[in-house]
Amino acid sequence: MLDKKVAELINTQINKEFYSAYLYLHFSNYYTEHGLNGFANWYNIQAQEERDHAMLMMQYMQNNDAPVTLEGIDKPQAELNNNMDPLRAGLEHECYVTSLINTIYEAAYNVKDFRTMQFLDWFVKEQGEEETNAGDLIKKMELFGSDPKSLYMLDQEMGARVYTAPSLVL
Ligand code: FEO
Repeated sequence: MLDKKVAELINTQINKEFYSAYLYLHFSNYYTEHGLNGFANWYNIQAQEERDHAMLMMQYMQNNDAPVTLEGIDKPQAELNNNMDPLRAGLEHECYVTSLINTIYEAAYNVKDFRTMQFLDWFVKEQGEEETNAGDLIKKMELFGSDPKSLYMLDQEMGARVYTAPSLVL
């Protein structure tokens, strides 16, 4: 049995992960509308990964006989006025998600729920990678975004990203 507070936090996080997918689809739509299909591809894959995160958390709850309650997903909150806006909003969002994962970890730690801590270890690592990737994209856009040829190359690079299923097996 999962601790009530830990279960509540994971249940809420499921919604947050689906929201993350929604937010990244919003970014993908922005780039599609502005002719940057590589960036759109990158965020489509990002959205798939977020859905994977939600599914892993659902599976974890179910493996531990904890009921899952799905809530409504909020409208994506990010005003996108230029090619940099999604990237900055993405980094800010990932930092927020890291803080949420840390809060669940802390709740699990407080009740000596080592199983949940071990489950969350993968997410802690994943958040580190997501923040690094989001920060790298901002640096690249700062360096190359104002030059059309370089932006084209960067878009090609983003378009080469392929989806891979998460390495975490439950
Ligand atoms: Fe599920 Fe991007 O964190």
